[in-house]
Amino acid sequence: MKTSRLKNQLAFPLFATATFAVLLYLVLPFFAPSSAGEELKTSAPGFYWVRMLTKIALWLSLMFVGVRLTSAFLFDLIFRLRKKREAPTLVRDLFSIVAYVLIVALILKYYFALSLGALLSGSALLGVILGLALQDTLGNLFSGISLHADKPFDVGDVITVGKWTGVVESVTWRAAKIRTFTNHIVLVSNSQIAKEAIEVCPRDNANARLVFFNALYMNSPAKVMQVVRDAIREAENVRREPAAFVRIRNLGESGVEYEIKYWLEDYARFNDTDALLRQRIWYAFNRAGLNFAYPTQTLYIEQPKAAANLAVEAETLTGRLSATGIFAPLNGDELSQLACASRSHTYAPGETIIRAGEDGDSMFVVHHGHVSVQIDDDGQPRTVATLREGDFFGEMALFTGEPRSAHVVAAAETEVLEIGHEAMKLVFDTNPQLAESLGTTIAHRRADLAAAVEDEDEEEVSAGVISSIKRFFGLD
Ligand code: CMP
Repeated sequence: MKTSRLKNQLAFPLFATATFAVLLYLVLPFFAPSSAGEELKTSAPGFYWVRMLTKIALWLSLMFVGVRLTSAFLFDLIFRLRKKREAPTLVRDLFSIVAYVLIVALILKYYFALSLGALLSGSALLGVILGLALQDTLGNLFSGISLHADKPFDVGDVITVGKWTGVVESVTWRAAKIRTFTNHIVLVSNSQIAKEAIEVCPRDNANARLVFFNALYMNSPAKVMQVVRDAIREAENVRREPAAFVRIRNLGESGVEYEIKYWLEDYARFNDTDALLRQRIWYAFNRAGLNFAYPTQTLYIEQPKAAANLAVEAETLTGRLSATGIFAPLNGDELSQLACASRSHTYAPGETIIRAGEDGDSMFVVHHGHVSVQIDDDGQPRTVATLREGDFFGEMALFTGEPRSAHVVAAAETEVLEIGHEAMKLVFDTNPQLAESLGTTIAHRRADLAAAVEDEDEEEVSAGVISSIKRFFGLD
């Protein structure tokens, strides 16, 4: 409690105490009759009652001063020093109520020989009337006490009760005061809180939010997710740890629906932060040439690909294959023949392209992206090589007829060109020397793969591989 508030609270009781003390000890003695004590009651009843009531008023004023000072000492000093936070209003109010009732009971007993217990139990009717009149108030009081015992939320937490969401400002013996996000104050009675389900987002908790957006089907999910992740990573009020993530929520009617899950530093500012993220996404989409999906009906009329487009595509694929080391000996015609026979596939990050142990009758060239070659190491994948644009894989099973020797996993969104057995056989028919260079590559890769191969003579392995390649393709 602030000192100025305490001063305000004490000003009137102190003034009243001083006034009644002056009245009792300085003014009334002038009018005192000669008789004293119990005799006064009969000889001068007027004076007797004025003095009695002044005494009671003095005690009551002193009671206010005493209780308020004790409450300030207990809660503003001791409680705050120990717990390092404000004492709950409910506890302060309860303390004051109990103290007032006890002191009033003492005064009644001393001056009128009345016991509070006898007063209450003596009048059943009074009890019923009080009970009915205070039904709601007492309900709130007891709900407030159980709220404090349970402590489901604290001042500063964001809570949702019924239709209200806001930051808790205080909890009194009657109600919780919530400041909504439109800066209105809502008082929700304790008994209502006790009845309803409450959603609590504690102030010191890593509270998460979901923000939704969507993108057109033709925008690759890997790219969308990467762009959005980068765009929101450093936004204000977004926790770095745990890091926000983006995932596909649904394949909707008009587009792919995504959600962002992010954690806030200060949950009370979630509206601003959600809005900031949406703004960042819009700009990031704009820069990356991505498009939001909105409910539309589009009529697609499929047109055969223009000859010019096909030529460009074939040229790009031929360019890729000519830049792949093993195909260097092939002439232009052979390369474009191979390009026509190859099929392009796109894989999402983390997708497995090849599984160890499976049969394989094709090989792949990395067109865009990169892949990891992995083996099982005690049940855990261990990367033995990373292959980038222009590198090839899957040749071992294709050329030797053995099962796939390793897993190959897309490390990012990756486009590969798959070349089948038939197309490769044609190439080998005209370029038998290809077997030599492939044999060496396979031998190197095998040596890397198996620790046992370390002891073997690499040249012997290579010769063995070359002859099995030739056998497989019937070149001997
Ligand atoms: P294949 O055995 O058909 O399938 C797994 C592929 O991983 C294999 O062919 C090679 O192309 C590739 N691979 C295996 N080991 C290595 C390595 N050490 N370095 C690069 N690529 C490899």
